[in-house]
Amino acid sequence: MSACRKVAVVTGGNRGIGISLVRNLCQTFDGAVYLTARNEERGKKAVQDLKAEGLSPCFHQLDIDSRDSICDFAKYLKETYGGVNVIIANGSVSYEKNSPVPLSEQSEGYIRVNNIGNANLYQALEPLLRQDGRYVIVSSGFGQLSHISEKLRPKFQTDNMSIDQLNCVLNEYVTSTKDGSYKEKGWPGLAKRRLQAGSCSSNQNPCAQSEGQPSSSARERLLSRMDCHRRYQDVSG
Ligand SMILES: NC(=O)c1ccc[n+]([C@@H]2O[C@H](COP(=O)([O-])OP(=O)(O)OC[C@H]3O[C@@H](n4cnc5c(N)ncnc54)[C@H](OP(=O)(O)O)[C@@H]3O)[C@@H](O)[C@H]2O)c1
Repeated sequence: MSACRKVAVVTGGNRGIGISLVRNLCQTFDGAVYLTARNEERGKKAVQDLKAEGLSPCFHQLDIDSRDSICDFAKYLKETYGGVNVIIANGSVSYEKNSPVPLSEQSEGYIRVNNIGNANLYQALEPLLRQDGRYVIVSSGFGQLSHISEKLRPKFQTDNMSIDQLNCVLNEYVTSTKDGSYKEKGWPGLAKRRLQAGSCSSNQNPCAQSEGQPSSSARERLLSRMDCHRRYQDVSG
């Protein structure tokens, strides 16, 4: 086990902002840098492209929409390094503005991957974070509460909500896109990027064999460690 070696991980690292984060971490971070991707072929191709630039990222498959994939990766990090220093949760699904995919399918995909998937990832990897480690969630201005109606905002502006309750609220959004009531209920018509306000879900570590931590504790840790829009420079070195 390379227990002393520092490790940084980027999800959705095969393209877009993700590959730029990996490139910059390779240039500035003193440790192993993992480019992870849901698709092995695309991920390995991106690693090869960066190697052609003289950089040395490592690769591991990671699909945040799969609990098995998340657990495999958490196990790999624990067994290989004993912990992790930096996680940048960048991977997400998105649809073009004029996508032919029905809104009900888009909203389901968003919540399942961008919210629930990222929350599952957090709950699996946060216990591995080393002291002074950083867990960075790349979010979007579209996740601000100003993008939903005022009548819905109180649902998110509370400190007393468990992760499961929060998950229920997000599912209300998905349901409302299916029955067509989303507009009158104040939800957005276009589920653009992730709904940052609810980036958490179940109260259970997806890799835990027994009962997970209490919802409030997991949520508090998630929100306190959440560091939206933090620049990669802050976590390098
Ligand atoms: N671009 C912007 O203007 C902008 C603005 C604000 C915020 N952001 C945020 O920045 C992040 C990256 O944006 P981007 O424009 O670079 O996005 P992008 O080009 O759409 O890339 C998204 C990445 O996430 C990966 N991904 C999708 N589903 C995944 C899954 N289930 N598990 C793991 N990875 C998955 C994609 O893999 P595949 O290649 O396999 O699809 C791809 O590598 C997103 O979180 C986004 O919300 C972007």
